[in-house]
Amino acid sequence: MGLIPDDIIAQVLDRCDIVELISEYVTLKKAGRNFKACCPFHHEKTPSFVVNRDKQIYHCFGCGAGGNAIGFLISHDHMDFPSAVRHLAQKAGISIPDTHSSASSEALGERDLVLKANESAVDFFHDNLIKGQGKAASAQEYLKKRQVKLETARKLKLGFAPDSWDGIITFLRSKNMSLSIMEKAGLIVPREKSEGYYDRFRDRVIFPIFDLRGKCIAFGGRTMKAESGAKYMNSPETPVYAKREHLYGLHASKQAIARDDHAVVVEGYMDFLTPFQAGVENIVASLGTALTIEQIRLIRRYTRNVIMLYDADMAGQMATVRSLDLLIEEDMHVKIALLTSNEDPDSFIQKFGVQEFRQRLSAAQPLFDYKLGILLRQHDGRSVEGKARISAEMLTTLAKYRNEIVRSEYLKQLAHALSVSEDALRLELKKIGVTPTAEPSIYARQHQKIVRVVERDLLKLILEDQETAVRIQEEVTLEDFQDEQVRSVMAQIFHLSQHEKTISVAHLVQHFKDDETLRFLSELAAASHLVAGDKESLKRDYINRIKSDRLKSQRKNLCDEIHQAERTGDHARLEELTQKFNQLIKG
Ligand code: UTP
Ligand code: MN
Repeated sequence: MGLIPDDIIAQVLDRCDIVELISEYVTLKKAGRNFKACCPFHHEKTPSFVVNRDKQIYHCFGCGAGGNAIGFLISHDHMDFPSAVRHLAQKAGISIPDTHSSASSEALGERDLVLKANESAVDFFHDNLIKGQGKAASAQEYLKKRQVKLETARKLKLGFAPDSWDGIITFLRSKNMSLSIMEKAGLIVPREKSEGYYDRFRDRVIFPIFDLRGKCIAFGGRTMKAESGAKYMNSPETPVYAKREHLYGLHASKQAIARDDHAVVVEGYMDFLTPFQAGVENIVASLGTALTIEQIRLIRRYTRNVIMLYDADMAGQMATVRSLDLLIEEDMHVKIALLTSNEDPDSFIQKFGVQEFRQRLSAAQPLFDYKLGILLRQHDGRSVEGKARISAEMLTTLAKYRNEIVRSEYLKQLAHALSVSEDALRLELKKIGVTPTAEPSIYARQHQKIVRVVERDLLKLILEDQETAVRIQEEVTLEDFQDEQVRSVMAQIFHLSQHEKTISVAHLVQHFKDDETLRFLSELAAASHLVAGDKESLKRDYINRIKSDRLKSQRKNLCDEIHQAERTGDHARLEELTQKFNQLIKG
């Protein structure tokens, strides 16, 4: 991997503003010297996530997540280290020398080029539509017929791909893009019978698909004709697009999802667009697939509550329900909303209006009730076989709940609904084998580290004042710190200060890869209550305490050795130790 030079990393950290960065993801409120928000890494109702501008770090007092701007991108957007640095560098206008020294840095270059091609393509398609270029009138007409407002088309950057074999090719050529990158981006397709390529998207309305950062990663194109090939044509999998890892619209809706603390999940492009335009902004589309684990985890960054709103055809219902067990495994709260049959969210709103649509959303049923309802319609809940079939199906879902209380509450309801005994159901549940609550959820891992108060607070002082770090080395040594973690941090501080490097938390955390230390450091830096009072005299106190602790322990060690020498009758040794001891208490 092309290594990014240390000084560039430092420069990037200095120039970027973590408050600005994190504001793109959550709404930060000023709270004293910090900024506060509900944590984007775990679900919570009262904010315990703080961002500190002075120290350029974030920390969540709820789940312990913490680090600097680079760490935030790595944890939150799952970027790798170089991409995170590059992302920040780009924001700060710092150029990073491109090293084409190895395969992986070439792959990075290729991703970037594909993204660039996509970015230009979005502009091309969008300009066509807005300016009515190249027969775009038909597309404008089409969108108008479907009640899409210009404002929405702008917001979602909808576009028009002209009815031509080389529209995008010619345009991207003029931007010096290579054919091979266009092909990798999925924008063009090689001809089968001859040399050359042709445009993948022709005479279609274009729906660009964006990632969370707002980069275009793929496209969907809808035909405007009633009968002509596929209704939607989509980008293939590319170096920047894996269908199962993305949700259409999340880029535009993530803030509303966090704000409302729930997400509505629909199937299609238009099923996203029409409610979104009508003000139901907490919505995403899975684009015709059953929800995948990756998509669920994307949603879970913003909320644990999901309302599924899939087309109401009876055929798909059971299949849908089965795929929803996945959501329960991921500890999400799932409800299912129903529309009138033969309507999808888009057509429903066109017909009945958004008020009625919202009504359906609030009438959404918990997955448990919904599934039981379907099963009771499919089987005879009064016959023995019916009871067995229904309970078997229901228990597979029940077994997925991680929460014991929820599980036993549903067990009670199921027993009641089928008039069978709870004990019998419990036995059956055992046979299935309840999925163990594997991961002790991050919220449970609230083990706060217990460190000697002096060590912790002295470290905090050092983190606030670079000078202290330099001067303190004249008075204390690494061995004076009893806590291993504090000691390893101090070692790094000493090292950096000897090389006259900046010692700030944001820089420091860069040198620690383990979560434990990151958490410890970010918490320490974010905690505002720890050190109150006159810093200079506090510092003196701490140093004196540490020194006297050192004396105490030396004394104790000597005493132990003296006793040992007395016992063995080693007079020479005894003499030597006694002298040492006297010196120690004098000094
Ligand atoms: P639908 O067939 O329900 O279409 O497919 P739709 O969303 O109602 O589309 P409109 O309203 O007629 O424009 C649901 C989703 O499945 C994917 C698309 O993501 C679509 O939105 N799909 C469907 C395709 O990718 N290709 C197709 O040919 C059809
Ligand atoms: Mn539709």
